[in-house]
Amino acid sequence: MESYASSEPTVIVIAGAGGDLTWRKLIPALYDLFTDNWLPERFLVFGVDRVALSEDEFRKRLHQGVDQFSRRGKTDPKSWDAFASHLRFLSTDFSASGAFASLSDELCEQDKAWGTKATHIFYLAVPPMMVEVIGRQMEEVRLCLERERVRVVVEKPFGHDLVSAQALNASLTKVFAESQIYRIDHYLGKETVQNILAFRFANGLFEPIWDRRYIDHVQITVAEQVGVEHRGSYYEHAGALRDMVQNHLLQILCLIAMEPPVSFQGDEIRNKKGDVLHAIRSIHPERVQEFAVRGQYAAGWIRGHHIPGYRSEPNVSPDSLSETFAALKLFIDNWRWQDVPFYLRTGKRLAGKVSEVSVQFRPVPHLAFPHEALSELQPNRLVIRIQPEEGITVRLQAKQPGLMMRLRPVDMRFSYREAFGGVSPEAYETLLLDVIRGDATLFLRDDQVEAAWSVIMPVLDTWAAVEPVDFPNYQAGTWGPEAAEVLIAKDGRSWIQPAIPEEE
Ligand code: BG6
Repeated sequence: MESYASSEPTVIVIAGAGGDLTWRKLIPALYDLFTDNWLPERFLVFGVDRVALSEDEFRKRLHQGVDQFSRRGKTDPKSWDAFASHLRFLSTDFSASGAFASLSDELCEQDKAWGTKATHIFYLAVPPMMVEVIGRQMEEVRLCLERERVRVVVEKPFGHDLVSAQALNASLTKVFAESQIYRIDHYLGKETVQNILAFRFANGLFEPIWDRRYIDHVQITVAEQVGVEHRGSYYEHAGALRDMVQNHLLQILCLIAMEPPVSFQGDEIRNKKGDVLHAIRSIHPERVQEFAVRGQYAAGWIRGHHIPGYRSEPNVSPDSLSETFAALKLFIDNWRWQDVPFYLRTGKRLAGKVSEVSVQFRPVPHLAFPHEALSELQPNRLVIRIQPEEGITVRLQAKQPGLMMRLRPVDMRFSYREAFGGVSPEAYETLLLDVIRGDATLFLRDDQVEAAWSVIMPVLDTWAAVEPVDFPNYQAGTWGPEAAEVLIAKDGRSWIQPAIPEEE
């Protein structure tokens, strides 16, 4: 079986091991990597949390999570037992002095047992305010000193705004070197998001037309059908712009818009993406209304089920002003993209779960066809479907069979499933393996995070200062508020409605 596992002995310490992320994502991903032979032979996962759990209880809980969330479905007892023998648990209060002393002892003991110094990965699956505390605790027992073999993984949100992101970065870099810090954006681990680079830079066909001369505009849609689930209290302080646009949508935009990299070195890719973020034209605070739209869902219907409005969700204020939908129009001020609008939209409780990028090409300069041939004419469009039904579609014009000359749009499709079969790894598998190997290409550097905050700050500030008067302004199960249609319609364009698969 193909496997490029690092042979370095590795300990993954998960701070916040009693939490949802560990249960739903991290351990199922590690289990799948283990089962496919991607993990080093000598590895341990140390769960650390303030909850009091015995090691057996901890394993049992994780077992249920893996049964439920692993892409391979229910575990078979033999592989689970083999994997579970690598799991340890330590209960500790992160804020108590010396909280990591016994962890440090355990890690030393393990190094002795293995007869070598292992790579130590600290995955901080904790709320942002704990990140700094844990950094200090690690510093106290000197757990962060060896730059080469100690890595720390930080989950979003990376701050609440530009200033807090800068403060978070400053506190992290006081303890760790930037090269030790892996800021996760799970969208970058998705197979199709990575494929944007392969598509653009391994094919000669599209790159020559990938600019303002041929592209009319780009749309990025990340639509969700779920609501805020059990995360009402987090979402009340976040909203869609912070939760999705600052990270996932802007990262996708970077991959679509970046210049060709000179190499696939982590910093080269990150520099090229950073250039895009720095080139995004800043939205003047007085013109936010022209460039940004917010929305909040009211009750509605999805697939025959009645869906309560956002304000009736648990832990959400009945007069909440948090946005569950955001749409932006952005421009990138550089040679390639001058005056090409990038329309971004994301929202909860929309008509379907679908993420895609549509690149709309300019119409041909002259149409020699008879008038009757053109009733259904559409300019070429390329759609990169990120999820579900991952693939790429090119929309072309074809002559409709028959005795008359009539043109009709047709699609040329590449489907991941049909081309490659099988199941792709989950984003967390890809990203965890990259951390184990020490490859930071798909992770966010401090300057990228701050540049992304700078892009949305004028919108956040304006929205905080001016209360929305029309919330809730879209029904669950629709494509968002009317104002989002107006945002794009003003430019003589419209949102391309993604095809929604029958059942998800
Ligand atoms: C997370 C957001 O980063 O991404 C969630 O915090 C959102 O609100 C999720 O639901 C969407 O991820 P995916 O992989 O399901 O598209």
